[in-house]
Amino acid sequence: MNHVKDFNFSGKKTLIRVDFNVPLDKQTFAVTDDTRLRAALKTIHKILNDGGSVILMSHLGRPKNGPEEKYSLKHIVAYLSSLLQKDVKFVTDCIGDEVRSAAENLKPGEVLLLENLRFHPEEEKGDETFARQLSELGDVYVNDAFGTAHRAHASTTIIANYFDAQHKMFGFLMAAEVEAAGKVLHDHEKPFTAIIGGAKVSDKILILEKLIEKADNIIVGGGMAYTFIKAMGGKVGNSLCEEDRLENALQLIEKAKSMQVSFLLPDDSIIADKFDNAANIKSANSNDIPDGWMGLDIGTNAIQQFTDVILRSKTILWNGPMGVFEMENFSKGTIEIAHAVAKATAAGAYTLVGGGDSVAAVNKFGLADQVSYVSTGGGAMLEFFEGKVLPGVAAIAAAK
Ligand code: 3PG
Ligand code: MG
Repeated sequence: MNHVKDFNFSGKKTLIRVDFNVPLDKQTFAVTDDTRLRAALKTIHKILNDGGSVILMSHLGRPKNGPEEKYSLKHIVAYLSSLLQKDVKFVTDCIGDEVRSAAENLKPGEVLLLENLRFHPEEEKGDETFARQLSELGDVYVNDAFGTAHRAHASTTIIANYFDAQHKMFGFLMAAEVEAAGKVLHDHEKPFTAIIGGAKVSDKILILEKLIEKADNIIVGGGMAYTFIKAMGGKVGNSLCEEDRLENALQLIEKAKSMQVSFLLPDDSIIADKFDNAANIKSANSNDIPDGWMGLDIGTNAIQQFTDVILRSKTILWNGPMGVFEMENFSKGTIEIAHAVAKATAAGAYTLVGGGDSVAAVNKFGLADQVSYVSTGGGAMLEFFEGKVLPGVAAIAAAK
């Protein structure tokens, strides 16, 4: 498979699909988390250092009907310019005459950012004409947008048809993401432990199905744990529970049992009488939560039990927090699990953290550089671990 590291970009205009779908402040539109911008720098620098020029294209948010101020990529121009230490040029569309001439006039060492691709509905439809118009802006196509690799959109997938095998390739980020995820799913050292959290079971059923076939231990925390606990006959009070998923939950527990995979749920929980940091709080057995109370974090015994398993593991995948870590009183479970994952890493385990909330958690606790790899992909990472082929990866991987 082609990789930017093996290509000389001298004199070439390179069209890079990046995932600059970054969170912006609602009032000021300032970038509030620059992880995805930083993650793209290595590829951009390589191309510029070779003597090439760069045309960046991305989506931002989910605009419905054409341009929307809050989704304009102009909001990131200043920030990106400061990261690159050069003035990034910007055009107010991604196709059309103005864009074509800006691309044509781009000189080696220069960077041009196009306006949000999703301002054209053709992007999400995977429209061929739109993809061809984009492709005409560059001599080479690089896909570095792992976060969007699960979308078969014009700029992530269809566009690859308009470049020959020598002129389409993965950027550093895409290659690193695919390698990290592939190592965990297909080439891991055992014991392999998957830690899956978050609010909803319904989002995680497919990944759990797949991971039960691969992992030695599955640790389940967060709001989704209570659907499993209720399915097994526990009393969960007012905790989050997806009644229509009780059957799925039981099937997963059965599948784990039949495959001799240990499936761990939190023995105890921190419970609260309302969804509020200032609520009344106590600890309880997770299967005996009184009415009017809800589980908002894993408890002390669960932390201990999960930590023991994590420290015995050689490979760890973590997706989803253990509780409502944004509220201080319910953050201990997620903090302690993050520390356990960091400790396992220091002891030689390979650890991959992915999914918006768990990544936000390791960043918040300052542990991002103490795990093996932090993914920029949420949905893309989930779909990879569900065993799906990511269209954005396949479009390049097919090139010899
Ligand atoms: C994401 O943040 O999930 C990616 O940028 C993809 O965005 P989407 O979920 O709106 O397709
Ligand atoms: Mg998404």
